[in-house]
Amino acid sequence: MQYEVVLPAAGSGKRMGAGKNKLFLLLQNKPILIHTLNVFQNDENCTGIWLAVKPEERAFIQQLLDEHHITKVKGLPNGGEERQHSVHSCIKEMEQVDIVLVHDAARPFITQDIIARLVETASEYGAAIAGVRAKDTMKKVRDGKIVETVDREHLWMIQTPQAFRFDLLFEAEDVAEKVGFLGTDEAMLVERLGYPVHIVEASYDNIKMTTQEDLVIGEAILRKVQGTH
Ligand code: CTP
Ligand code: MG
Repeated sequence: MQYEVVLPAAGSGKRMGAGKNKLFLLLQNKPILIHTLNVFQNDENCTGIWLAVKPEERAFIQQLLDEHHITKVKGLPNGGEERQHSVHSCIKEMEQVDIVLVHDAARPFITQDIIARLVETASEYGAAIAGVRAKDTMKKVRDGKIVETVDREHLWMIQTPQAFRFDLLFEAEDVAEKVGFLGTDEAMLVERLGYPVHIVEASYDNIKMTTQEDLVIGEAILRKVQGTH
């Protein structure tokens, strides 16, 4: 089933501390951004890619797209102050499609298999997001003291992609903008309207490149993936 994808890429990478957008850092000699884009470029069900970018980085990103033969990008609108604003600037420029995915450009290890399951589930139920089960014992802490041990059975760590029927996400973002609600992911915007959001069990490999350690882990994940092919 076909879909289009929104990739917010307009962050600053402060926690990575590289002094530039972390998406330009290399993993096995290729920018993180290109690793992510290649997954969608190579997925025949992906019919369009929308990239939210910083205006001052647009020319460089366009150059990267040309160099790496990324041909599916339909638009590179300006990102915003927060990730949610960056995603919204893409949604506002898109033509209506059935299913739209939102995926952090900083998660290069997403697979076509997980994408396909998200698209199917969103098509059936309206909204589906990727996540993995919490592995550690989880406790709620306040002022340095345990408040309670939370039942891990019901706890999931949430990732992207997050997949939606286009009209559902459009409505959720529109309402969020009007009331000035800022969520930490797209699902939150949909949840607050009372729509059910389904979870698709994804992979612990689908990490977000956030801090320096992730670069080391990322190289290891790449080696593992290559070893299995
Ligand atoms: N992003 C964006 N617009 C923003 C903030 C983030 O498009 N205003 C994008 C990032 O480029 C990244 C994704 O959203 O692909 C996830 O965000 P995060 O991992 O937080 O990246 P940064 O915001 O760049 O990093 P940091 O929070 O450490 O500064
Ligand atoms: Mg951020």
